[in-house]
Amino acid sequence: MTAIVIKTNQEIKYLRESNRIVALLLRYLAGIVRPGVTTAYLDHQAERFIHKHGAVPGFKGYMGYPATVCISINDEVVHGIPSPKRVIKEGDIVSIDAGVILKGFYGDAAITVPVGGVSPEARKLLQVTEESLYKGIEAAVVGNRVGDIGYAVQQWVEKHGFSVVRDYTGHGIGRKLHEPPQVPNYGERGKGALLRPGMTIAIEPMVNAGGFEVKTRNDGWTVVTADHSLSAHFEHTIAIMEDRTEILSRP
Ligand code: MF3
Ligand code: CO
Repeated sequence: MTAIVIKTNQEIKYLRESNRIVALLLRYLAGIVRPGVTTAYLDHQAERFIHKHGAVPGFKGYMGYPATVCISINDEVVHGIPSPKRVIKEGDIVSIDAGVILKGFYGDAAITVPVGGVSPEARKLLQVTEESLYKGIEAAVVGNRVGDIGYAVQQWVEKHGFSVVRDYTGHGIGRKLHEPPQVPNYGERGKGALLRPGMTIAIEPMVNAGGFEVKTRNDGWTVVTADHSLSAHFEHTIAIMEDRTEILSRP
């Protein structure tokens, strides 16, 4: 395993730019998600948006991934592949995960949006998952450890009766989409790598309404909950600095 890459202020500036585009993209996509649109249409619009902003898609071709964004609906957890056959409908919860590269640096973030009126359980799941991301970010400060992040996320999620996915984690990010350290959404206080100024990481809780077990569909990508319960995903890329932690993927 290679060492955690500490970024200079200039490198963090580049990451701020790439992640700003991701933030704007997610806001744009959230605004055009509605019943009747296909996930392929959203993917196409995402690619146009990214190019218009001078960046390139970060996921396309990554480990052979075939699209610009990942769109995962209801019991789909992450890595859903956009398709012209997949039509969004009222009541769905739609997770959109987006990555770009600008000037050699990755941006990466995700949101889950409700389509029209969704069930009370779905609403609670979205709220708790997004809150758990912010709990994780609050724990991501100089002097804490990676385990403190996972602990904060897991506590919040389980306190509300949901479960955190174990098989996928957050990650360091920079010139590569996935750098060390891995950032699990579960953990123990005081365990794992020490958080230091200049670390840039993506924190991305994937939270299931039922059990934490997941499986991958035959397409080789789409991860679904084993019990077909609903799942939500929120992600931010952050920079840990001497005196504060900055969320880079916020418009
Ligand atoms: N946010 C996800 C991650 O960081 C997106 C990766 S999708 C892939 O792992 F297609 F690029 F693999
Ligand atoms: Co990520």
